[in-house]
This record gives sequence, structure tokens and C-alpha cells, in this order.
Amino acid sequence: MLPAPPGLPEFLPGWVWLVGAGPGDPALLTVGALHALQQADLVIYDALVSAAVLALARGGAILEYAGKRGGKPGPKQPDISRRLIQAARREMRVLRLKGGDPFVFGRGAEEALALAGANIPFRVVPGVTAGIGGLAYAGIPLTARDTNSSVTFLTGHGVGGAVPDGIDWAAVVRASPMLVIYMALKHLPEIVARLTGAGLAGATPVAVVASATLPAMEVRVATLATVVAAAAAAGLEPPAILAVGEPVRLRAGLDWLGAIAGRALETDPLGARGARDTGS
Ligand SMILES: C[S@@+](CC[C@H](N)C(=O)[O-])C[C@H]1O[C@@H](n2cnc3c(N)ncnc32)[C@H](O)[C@@H]1O
Repeated sequence: MLPAPPGLPEFLPGWVWLVGAGPGDPALLTVGALHALQQADLVIYDALVSAAVLALARGGAILEYAGKRGGKPGPKQPDISRRLIQAARREMRVLRLKGGDPFVFGRGAEEALALAGANIPFRVVPGVTAGIGGLAYAGIPLTARDTNSSVTFLTGHGVGGAVPDGIDWAAVVRASPMLVIYMALKHLPEIVARLTGAGLAGATPVAVVASATLPAMEVRVATLATVVAAAAAAGLEPPAILAVGEPVRLRAGLDWLGAIAGRALETDPLGARGARDTGS
């Protein structure tokens, strides 16, 4: 194992580091996450951690999968917490690696509380969350001076799997001109119905960004009225982020990955009126 570079904490035996792996592209790992990968004895990772990120783990590290496989239920949260505690008590350097950021819809808080309750020393290394990094790769800013000065992050998947009951959709629509919705694909028709019922116009621009930052990334831009059909026609699969609001229009001018692939960018994307239903 390499010594910790100056300024970075040493990964001590008996500790658990709760680390965000970002949305998939290893270029989005933090220096702290890379350092942890190169020091850990045991890496316990979730389904959304990409193969490219795992490949950066130290040669001798044990890689242990803790996600769902083939639609089957994975280990329960208490089992994972128990496993972290047990490995730390065996004096391993335990890296709990989660997609995106561990504290954003990632149940990182539950695991950290379990560690604290068991007197296991832990550290949190934040990651780039999919709703920020994934949309940036799609050329969709979260805020822009001409469109919005606030943004709201939501989950489309509540306890038990249904759309969460605790969301006041009318309040969200009234207060926030830009919505970033995680885990939205499974219940897309219901989410669209709730947004429409809360008064959001059918012409509101919407983007679905699937497998963001990965080679399989796909983006579909539609409107609230057409997104269900557009996502179905494209056969989009999770993981996907839904972006709802005017900043989605800016993709026409900011799709930098498309530009690298030779596509032309619009110079006045907000000036061009009308919703686009273009795949890209
Ligand atoms: C359980 S949540 C975990 C979120 C994660 N902690 C984060 O900060 O990004 C899983 C959801 O995150 C989103 N997600 C994670 N990685 C993604 C990716 N590469 N592309 C699109 N969405 C992603 C999807 O909405 C997915 O259903």
C-alpha cells in the first residue's frame, strides 16, 4: 500500500470510510475517493458503482457486492451495516462505496448511524451526485441566470417502492422552477400525473438522462406531456435522472459531449421557442 499523500488522511485499520463513487465516469471520483480505493482492504460496493471505478481498487483488496442482482432482492440494510461493523472489528480498512454521494438518496446516513452506534470510527468522503454530475454531462445546468435561481432534488421512489406520499407536489411546483428527480423511471407516468395535477404546464421541458456519464449514456428531451411516450419509445432503463424545467432548453446550446461527437450547438437555445422531442 502507498503512504497517504500529503494532506490526505491515512486510512487506518478498524475504520470505515463511507465514500461516494460519483455517477460512473471515474474522472468524477474525488482525490479522497481514489485515495481510499488505493488503501482499502475491503470494498463493499453497491449496484450503481461502475466497473471502471472498481478497477481502481488496490490489487489485493477484497471486492464485495452489496447490491441487488438480476432484479432479486439484495442484502437488507441491517445486514450491510452488520457486515461493515464486523469487518472493522477485524481491523480491516473498510471502504463502503456508494454510487453518487452517500448522503443523497443513498442510505449513507443509516449506515453512518449504525457505525456510530457500534463505536466504529468512520469518515465520510462526499461524491458527485448523479443529479449534478449526470446533468452536467447532458449539458443541462441546474441553474442559469436567465432561467432559475433555485432547484429542488426529489426522489420518485418512496418507502415500499411507490411514489413518496410525503411530497407536496403543488408546493414543489409553485416554489421550484427546476426539479431533479431521482429514481423516476419506474413510476414515470404517476410522477407526470402528479406534476400535471399540481399545475405544471404540459409544455414544460423535461429531460431523461439514463446511465449518465457512462459509455451507455442516453438523453431524451421532451415535454411533460410527451416524456412518458418518449422514454418508452427509446426503451430507457434505470438508472436515470429526470430534469424538469426551463434549464433543460439550454442543452441545445450546451451539449458538449454531442459537440465533441460532431453535433452542432445552438447559439441561442432559450430564444428558440417550442418544445423539442429530439432523441440524441
Ligand atoms: C438509490 S439512488 C442513489 C443516488 C446516489 N447516492 C447519488 O448521489 O447519485 C439511485 C438513483 O440515482 C440516480 N442515478 C445514479 N447513478 C446514475 C447514473 N449514472 N445515471 C443516471 N441516474 C443515476 C438514478 O435516479 C437512480 O435510480
